[in-house]
Amino acid sequence: MNFKEEYETKREQIEEILKEYLPPQEGYQKIIMEAMEYSLMAGGKRLRPMLMAETFRLFGGTGNVIRPFMAAIEMIHTYSLVHDDLPAMDNDEYRRGRKTTHVVYGEDMGILAGDALLNYAFETACRAFDQAPEQSARIGQALKILSEKAGIYGMIGGQVVDVKESGHKVSGEVLEFIYRLKTGALIESSMMIGAVLAGAGGDEIKRIEQAARKIGMAFQIQDDILDVTGTTETLGKPVHSDEKNEKMTYVVWKGLEESREAVKSMTEEALEDLAELRTEDEFLVQLLRSLVYREK
Ligand code: IPE
Ligand code: IPE
Ligand code: MG
Ligand code: MG
Ligand code: MG
Repeated sequence: MNFKEEYETKREQIEEILKEYLPPQEGYQKIIMEAMEYSLMAGGKRLRPMLMAETFRLFGGTGNVIRPFMAAIEMIHTYSLVHDDLPAMDNDEYRRGRKTTHVVYGEDMGILAGDALLNYAFETACRAFDQAPEQSARIGQALKILSEKAGIYGMIGGQVVDVKESGHKVSGEVLEFIYRLKTGALIESSMMIGAVLAGAGGDEIKRIEQAARKIGMAFQIQDDILDVTGTTETLGKPVHSDEKNEKMTYVVWKGLEESREAVKSMTEEALEDLAELRTEDEFLVQLLRSLVYREK
């Protein structure tokens, strides 16, 4: 199988896992289950669960304990997008090739759908205790990572500074802080959880965190590049959203050429960090390289 086929197969497997863990659409609150499915099953690259599964494999992990966490990280990521698109935040009307959740279900249900996905992510992750009761210590550690990296010291913290600094010129240091948290943190948690659930040691988890941090930075810089150079059709979300919101981005700071170089060099640095670990995963290497040249 070539890389593209392998990626597609893995993406479809992730979609199946997501469907399996979505709540049934029933009860007086049924509309929120519909909005959860609308946003979660709209497509998307499924990068975070894929990185989690690959890191799990890298450290020799086997079995089903990873599955609820794969669903959980994609639910948290999706909630972050649903809220990121709200009128009070980036105010965008398209996501993953569809109208955004708040446009279809109203702003009230958009907020609640995000809240619902966040909370249900943790309900879902806790199902790992049923899958593998003998691994409760590792599962507990994974839950700690997930909650920290999604919170005020992670993704939410990054979004706060991103929003607070809209319209302002920020220093390189603050810009790095925003990227490391708003985007890096969930990517770090994906890979760290894969490692933890496979039984990796503390030192290995630190190295994975370090590599994932670089992957996250590169990923957000490429996202900023695509906001300038991409098309809505390919991206499935509006272009020039950053300009509209007067966001200080890496592209504004360094220009397109230097930003492209940074994506490349940060990815190569991350690959070097990974190569120092005792095992190899050819698909993971190809996946990370493919992100450098991604068009969506
Ligand atoms: C978009 O994430 C938001 C960022 C952190 C840059 P993705 O580019 O992974 O979005 P999907 O999941 O493929 O839609
Ligand atoms: C958002 O960054 C990152 C999140 C944590 C949601 P952006 O605002 O650049 O993401 P897009 O471009 O809307 O996907
Ligand atoms: Mg944003
Ligand atoms: Mg946005
Ligand atoms: Mg963006």
